[in-house]
Amino acid sequence: MKVVITRKLPGEPEKLLKKNGFKVIVYKKDQTIPRHEFLKLTKDADAVLSLLTEKIDKEAIDNFSKCKIVANCAVGYNNIDVPYAKEKSLVVTNTPYVLTDATADLTVALILACARRLREGEQMMRENKFTGWKPNMLLGFDLKGKTVGIIGAGRIGRATARRLKGFGVKIIYFDRKKRDEFETEFLAKKVSINELMKKSDVITVHLSLSKETHHFLDAEALALMKKTAVIVNTSRGEIIEEKALIKLLKQNKIFAAGFDVYENEPNVNHELRALKNVFLLPHIGSATIETRSAMAQLAVNNIISVLKGKEPITPV
Ligand code: DGY
Repeated sequence: MKVVITRKLPGEPEKLLKKNGFKVIVYKKDQTIPRHEFLKLTKDADAVLSLLTEKIDKEAIDNFSKCKIVANCAVGYNNIDVPYAKEKSLVVTNTPYVLTDATADLTVALILACARRLREGEQMMRENKFTGWKPNMLLGFDLKGKTVGIIGAGRIGRATARRLKGFGVKIIYFDRKKRDEFETEFLAKKVSINELMKKSDVITVHLSLSKETHHFLDAEALALMKKTAVIVNTSRGEIIEEKALIKLLKQNKIFAAGFDVYENEPNVNHELRALKNVFLLPHIGSATIETRSAMAQLAVNNIISVLKGKEPITPV
């Protein structure tokens, strides 16, 4: 049976597949696989290990002649038409759990970068503009005593809350459902999204992207933020109406924003790049050797399980 891996991944997942007797084709170049190559390579594949950069839409699914499983090497699966895959009895899996800690770590890094103005400080050093300690230079704000609003209290939201607890913050959250364990662990209160936007000093977004969450934070919601607030996003760019956020940042109507994800990835709005009060990262929430290897291994294990006639481990 043939397994296609759309790009070379850390942890050499192909080894385990080969050991299990599968023929493995890894797209050779270190770039997003071009669409025509993807369609050509996957036509007769029994399994595809895909990344969030590949669109597994109706065309791609109809093009498969015998594919049983698409194992997405990401926790997010907005690149896949899951309802259509289901209709075609194609199993879709993702990689939850293994990237929770790495993503939460990076979220905290972004929050600190924004609150403590790390970008401006770093730039000052690189431009050789540091002329000595000054009492009023680059003043940020303490996290201690501040209110953090967590939007989406699932695995990553919770791991982020756990880290932030150590900073002495108060936590409030918005989620579709009431999360009893979250409330007990963090003495956190579930609030409406409007209340969260109004009350939080730091807002962090941990929703998965779907039709319902596209522009979940629109101009109206964003406008409720405090002038002193920070917002960071390590989930999916499309959840925030980016243009509206840029407008607020340009007018200094909020303190700062930290981005790991963008609305039109990999294109980053040029206005964002020009702003001082933003911290920009290139979608590296899960980018550690350990985590990326574990993601690849989990994707492979899902493939092996399904191709051997067993249940997928982490089905979507
Ligand atoms: C995911 O897993 O969805 C991340 O965005 C990529 O690691």
